[in-house]
Amino acid sequence: MTQSQGFATRAIHLGYNPMEHEGALTPPLHLTSTFAFETAEAGGEIFAGDRPGHIYSRISNPTLDLLERRVADLEGAEAGLALASGMGAITAIFWTLLSPGDEVIVDKTLYGCTFAFMHHGLRKFGITITHVDLTNPDNLTAAMTERTRLVYFETPANPNMRLVDISAVAAIAHAGGAQVVVDNTYATPYLTTPIALGADLVLHSATKYLGGHGDLVAGVVVGRAEAVSEIRLVGMKDMTGAVMAPFNAMLILRGLKTLALRMERHCASARVVAEWLEAHPEVAKVHYPGLAGFGQYALARRQMALPGAMIAFELKGGLEAGRRMMNGLRMIARAVSLGDAETLIQHPASMTHSTYTPEERAKHGIGDGLIRLSVGLEDVADILNDLDDALAPPHVMRSA
Ligand SMILES: Cc1ncc(COP(=O)(O)O)c(C=O)c1O
Repeated sequence: MTQSQGFATRAIHLGYNPMEHEGALTPPLHLTSTFAFETAEAGGEIFAGDRPGHIYSRISNPTLDLLERRVADLEGAEAGLALASGMGAITAIFWTLLSPGDEVIVDKTLYGCTFAFMHHGLRKFGITITHVDLTNPDNLTAAMTERTRLVYFETPANPNMRLVDISAVAAIAHAGGAQVVVDNTYATPYLTTPIALGADLVLHSATKYLGGHGDLVAGVVVGRAEAVSEIRLVGMKDMTGAVMAPFNAMLILRGLKTLALRMERHCASARVVAEWLEAHPEVAKVHYPGLAGFGQYALARRQMALPGAMIAFELKGGLEAGRRMMNGLRMIARAVSLGDAETLIQHPASMTHSTYTPEERAKHGIGDGLIRLSVGLEDVADILNDLDDALAPPHVMRSA
């Protein structure tokens, strides 16, 4: 398959020819921990990197290999690496690329466990974490120091939907000798390909849209072949051991086949839900990149093919009203994670971002009244009906 084919075609066919596998339409699942060598010499050559081949599934595995090539291709990257979780991907990158004394510049808002890893993990090993408001790239120019090795951010950011201008930030980071790492979990390569905009490494919690069905936990890293190989052999193999199980790779390969289709539907429904929420009398504010009133609407139009399916919103009645609304839902699941077929709702301050102290949340723009909605694939009328019932004052609830 070639790059000239479309996204959906490559997500289904790239890198696999059934005729090389006894005609099996679906790629085989290689459930093996180790690989036999033809001869002692051949084994030695594979170990030395002088001959292609697999050794042990904590280093590589043919089922993971196909997934790695597909995600890398969809992201426009040279190579990919499949890991046990999104956090496995993040930690493998950082343990590989950083040394004591280095500095990492990160955006103000990060997913809760990423924030915890940086503040409670990396800092113990002499690495400085500096938060900068990257929604204004000029702030990065002022913040870069000669110790800055990496610039790291999510766009859109979890949970408050802040966007970062990838090309502007990459230009400034590269001028100062730092690499750029982007968490592309919210956007997926169907909406944004950060490598084309100058990012050096891109990672995913493949638990989310790439897998797409809420049945696994997994991560992926893509970037230049040499960098990805180093993360494989250092960060994954030796430092974290966070390798993806082959069965999960197979499920994600299945998920990727419908990624384009799912993202179209997710995004179309999310736009309807965001507009509906914005017009609702109980709703104070909706953060969604597809709304004309979104603070970074112009950047969203430029950087995202579609505005995504994650919505953050605040109710006029604050946290209490949010709790009441969440408890009034009948179909939408009160659950963390995102990007599943099921619509999911959660309260970041008490759930995904409870790793921040209340003071840190206030400083990092995560309001206590903020509700996060991952719009799923159900009929949008049913999503709206559920929200409508739950937002109605108790005495007018349509069905008690
Ligand atoms: C934006 C983002 N990055 C990384 C992660 C971590 O991924 P995982 O849960 O697969 O370890 C998450 C999990 O929610 C996330 O939302």
